[in-house]
Amino acid sequence: MHPDVQAALNDQIRMELSSGYVYLAMAAEFESRAYDGFAHWMQLQAQEELEHAMKLFDYVNRRGGRVLLQAIECPPEEFGAPLDAFRSALEHEEAVTASIHRLYALAGEHGDIATQSELDWFVTEQVEEEENAGRAVDLLARAEDDPASILFLDREFGRRSDEHG
Ligand SMILES: [Fe+2]
Ligand SMILES: [Fe+2]
Repeated sequence: MHPDVQAALNDQIRMELSSGYVYLAMAAEFESRAYDGFAHWMQLQAQEELEHAMKLFDYVNRRGGRVLLQAIECPPEEFGAPLDAFRSALEHEEAVTASIHRLYALAGEHGDIATQSELDWFVTEQVEEEENAGRAVDLLARAEDDPASILFLDREFGRRSDEHG
């Protein structure tokens, strides 16, 4: 594997783990404010990010590359109202998508078809990630500041049981 591709894959592993850390921080804040459903949703999201990191971790190893873990920045303590938190999540996913696309292009520059093939899964996954976060933003925006609507959505989000939001 080209050193630049390996370095970019290691950067992506950090970004996935960092995403999980941000979602875990959101879950913690939601827990502290008795939004159990949103907290549950964010915990599952955090687990997914760890799975994404491990998928890349395994891939680098299978290619005979070297995984080098990096520092993960401290996440914010507060994210504001539920709508603000999910807006942050959507922006975060858009940044992850851009990073995956850059990585895909870099692999192409080095003729690394195997890495592009591995990244196909992530390209598709990011469409779903943005769709899920975008839908959450739309629903919360519609609820505006109505406590009953927010409570209803909290219950709804608490029913998330799989990776499909
Ligand atoms: Fe991810
Ligand atoms: Fe994600």
